[in-house]
Amino acid sequence: MQHKVTPKLLPVAELSRNDASIELDELTAKLIDHDQRYYQDESPIITDAQYDILQKRALDIELKFPELLQANSRSKRVGASPIAIFNKVKHSLKMLSLSNAFTAEDVEKFEERIRRFLNLSSCEILEFVAELKIDGLSVALRYEDGKFVQGATRGDGITGEDVTENLYTVADIPKDLGSDVPGVMEVRGEIYMGKKDFLKLNRLQIDSGGKCFANPRNSASGSLRQKDPVVTASRPLHFFAYAWGEVSNVDLTNLGVPQKWTSQSEFYSYLQRWGFKVNQHTKICQSTDVMINFYNDILLKRPGLDYDIDGIVYKVNRLDWQERLGFITRAPRWAIAHKFPAEKVQTKLQKIIIQIGRTGTLTPVAQLQSVSIAGVIVQRATLHNEDYISAKDIREGDIVEVERAGDVIPQVVGVIHDMRVTSNSEKFKMPENCPECGSKAIRKGGEASRRCTGGLMCPAQTVERLKHFVSRDALNIDGLGASHIEELWERKWIKIPGDLFRLNKRTKEMSGLIGWGEKSVNNLIEVLNKSTKVEFDRFIFALGISQVGRSVARLLAEHYRTFEIWLAAMQKAASGDEDSKSQLMSIEGIGPGIANDLIEFFFQSHNLEILYDLQNILEIKEWVSAKEAGSTIFGKNIVFTGALQSMTRDEAKVSAERLGAKVVTSVSSKTDYLVAGMDSGGKLKTANKLGIEVLSEAEWLELLL
Ligand code: IVH
Repeated sequence: MQHKVTPKLLPVAELSRNDASIELDELTAKLIDHDQRYYQDESPIITDAQYDILQKRALDIELKFPELLQANSRSKRVGASPIAIFNKVKHSLKMLSLSNAFTAEDVEKFEERIRRFLNLSSCEILEFVAELKIDGLSVALRYEDGKFVQGATRGDGITGEDVTENLYTVADIPKDLGSDVPGVMEVRGEIYMGKKDFLKLNRLQIDSGGKCFANPRNSASGSLRQKDPVVTASRPLHFFAYAWGEVSNVDLTNLGVPQKWTSQSEFYSYLQRWGFKVNQHTKICQSTDVMINFYNDILLKRPGLDYDIDGIVYKVNRLDWQERLGFITRAPRWAIAHKFPAEKVQTKLQKIIIQIGRTGTLTPVAQLQSVSIAGVIVQRATLHNEDYISAKDIREGDIVEVERAGDVIPQVVGVIHDMRVTSNSEKFKMPENCPECGSKAIRKGGEASRRCTGGLMCPAQTVERLKHFVSRDALNIDGLGASHIEELWERKWIKIPGDLFRLNKRTKEMSGLIGWGEKSVNNLIEVLNKSTKVEFDRFIFALGISQVGRSVARLLAEHYRTFEIWLAAMQKAASGDEDSKSQLMSIEGIGPGIANDLIEFFFQSHNLEILYDLQNILEIKEWVSAKEAGSTIFGKNIVFTGALQSMTRDEAKVSAERLGAKVVTSVSSKTDYLVAGMDSGGKLKTANKLGIEVLSEAEWLELLL
């Protein structure tokens, strides 16, 4: 008879009912404990990703063995993560996003751009519809002969998920539009949950020991993406309609109109006739002044609205002008979102904690009494560095102002000094030793932060370096996220980068871990095997040497060409050889600061051991210049304009330079290509005038292949 020695996690499909029952009890107890730590004690001991893994395992077991469902079941939780996998739907017309304006000036420029494009004189009336930007999730509803036949989420704009059954349960969505609609009519709009309903739902969650949603938007999204439409039906979801997608030949004769609507506002009247809800705060504006007044007015009304909004959308009212204006890659030229300013809230700064980064930088972080900012619960915010703290005299126990703008990391922006209890308040002092490893933390002249001198002795730095080593621009090892690295590190299975490639000796132990499973472990090993051939510049970047980012890594690779030559030169420089050091500094873009950081790295024997180990495992390719590789954009002048969706401007620049192109900032007759992202303005016009080839983002990506 076989005995189980170590608790090994079998795939759910292979679990016996008895084992499933035992495991489910354990998981449920664990999850309740983590919930308590997270919500009541505000001190979780696992990451969100680890929590989700436990939660998913519990749900998978319940799905396979529904008879094991108990009163405290995970899937009965109101906030259980949606687990459904939906069929994909390709949108017949792309679902676009909007360009952003942040100031009144941006809005004026938007209006000017449109006038220029349409060649309208300043006296000609240019009408806009101003409406609320609802903070929910957009969906596309397809009606054939007036009947609701399909509903899909936005997804990436090209392909979404088929959530027809779930949308069917939303009362605001009419199921039959009557007979006076185009044969195919796609209506688009926003699914959202009211603020009061969201709070009620979360109260229910807490009462049942379940997981809360962070904000109404997540709550709406989670509720829509449920496997069981009955659950969606129990959630108070609403819908505002504001756009159309595919529309077949329009014949609205019974309504007395022989053709399609001629303006955005007229379209809204049709929507209402068909039974849709159109937001009542919609105003026709004939000047930017009226638009800005509307914006300010709504900003004041915002707290009193029962749903979250994050700005105002302005849309050119005339349909023929919308058609002429068209689109720029992912957004219409005829509309813009005027975003509301970052929301500021006050809360208590409980503690200043110190985080250690990959290169040992000590960053002070505020641990806050949790507070909701712009719909997201915030418990931590950056304090930047010690000078920032001392300039504002921020102290533990203070009431501070915290700001969060969009996806930006929350930051402490000020202190309410009048509310300080002075008797037990002390000026903050940055520690002189690393709180993780105890090594000295030194602040060099000219630097804003202290750095731990423990190098690889410091566990915090080592874990961060390992995460960096596998990251997208480094070795790009798919399937190894931050939480995996943390777990492998905690189990002492990886200490140095080379250990990653020795994980193939641990597959059995790994597939026993919660959330890994045999299949994902095998996939990971396969990915690791394929990752042993690595480009030289990626390899340099992966080492995470202080100040050696992607472009410096490229400069080094270009100059030294092979790992062996580089290694020898760096070791010489580190042993005090002046010639090698000056050769290093002769590279354009590498100054004494970077050179010293490189020398310091190569001076440390533990770093050399890591390099020798990797040298035995990896095949580090020789640098081949773009010219030698036959790049189509070698030597070309490229200008980028507008916002790119798939990469940052920085990334775009590096990838162009990698292929031997020169990236310049202004368009002239010497420009070979203009890559136009979202909301491209003056540069696009100049390029068109000069007859320069304009590439969309998709065309640009194709060039990179
Ligand atoms: S119009 C072609 N109108 O904002 C124009 N979008 O940031 C399509 N949104 O993906 C969008 N309220 O989810 C439009 N009144 C409104 C909106 C709105 C919210 C969302 C929509 C879109 C996102 C763009």
